Amino acid sequence: MPGRADDDLAQFLERVVLPSGWRVLHEPTVESTNDLAREAARRNWPDRSVFVTDYQTRGRGRHGRVWLCPPRAGLLMSVLLRRRTAPAYTFTMLAAVALCEAIERLLGLEPAIKWPNDVLIDGKKVSGVLAEATDDGREQVVVVGIGVNVNLDAADLADLPTATTLSLEAGVPVHRGELLALLLERFDSWLTRDPRQFADGLWRAWNGRLWGRDQTVRVQDGQELLIATVLGGDRDGTLLVRLTDGTERRIVAGELLL
Ligand code: BTN
Repeated sequence: MPGRADDDLAQFLERVVLPSGWRVLHEPTVESTNDLAREAARRNWPDRSVFVTDYQTRGRGRHGRVWLCPPRAGLLMSVLLRRRTAPAYTFTMLAAVALCEAIERLLGLEPAIKWPNDVLIDGKKVSGVLAEATDDGREQVVVVGIGVNVNLDAADLADLPTATTLSLEAGVPVHRGELLALLLERFDSWLTRDPRQFADGLWRAWNGRLWGRDQTVRVQDGQELLIATVLGGDRDGTLLVRLTDGTERRIVAGELLL
């Protein structure tokens, strides 16, 4: 239930019942949960291992950026997935969709996905996903890092006009543990579907929540800054836009600007 300040994630994790096959390791402080998960992959940690922390000293974002979050104010976690045949981009889609579903269910808010996988509420970023494919020496492993602004103060966001936090949007403190439990339940629900239903259903759920559809937005595509209308997301995770001269373009590795 929302409305309760979250002050002990470790204690919550001792009593929570996770979906079958999942395990969570909580560390109070780490450099980066993605690095922790990659290291665990090398030490043979199994599929569906989750690494969560209260504070990161070297949190990483996409495009080489840093991911900063005050102690205990965010949900900072990485999911290790192995022996999965779907392409890596599927798992960033999965993270964004599962997080939207968890936020909808826990808080009744209406999140949107800013391509490729940022989660926005009311046009402001509340979460980002950093998925990294790695090789543990024997097989492909995907580490899906998720950072969610949960209980930041307005002061923490003063220099971040395009960011928000769940507590501000919901009007109540949000329990990080409850959000984590719901998020893993949604991950599990998707991952236990049959592979064809998984890929198709996931794409539909992702595409249906895409932010900016039919709107004019700014797109950074390599060195080019484009003004374009969002047409939708394709099944391979790319974004289709229409430029002001009427031509269509597929964005593979760019960024939509807020
Ligand atoms: C982005 O929007 O640029 C992605 C941010 C991803 C941040 C999360 S926090 C948990 C995990 N560990 C990291 O170092 N990064 C990801």
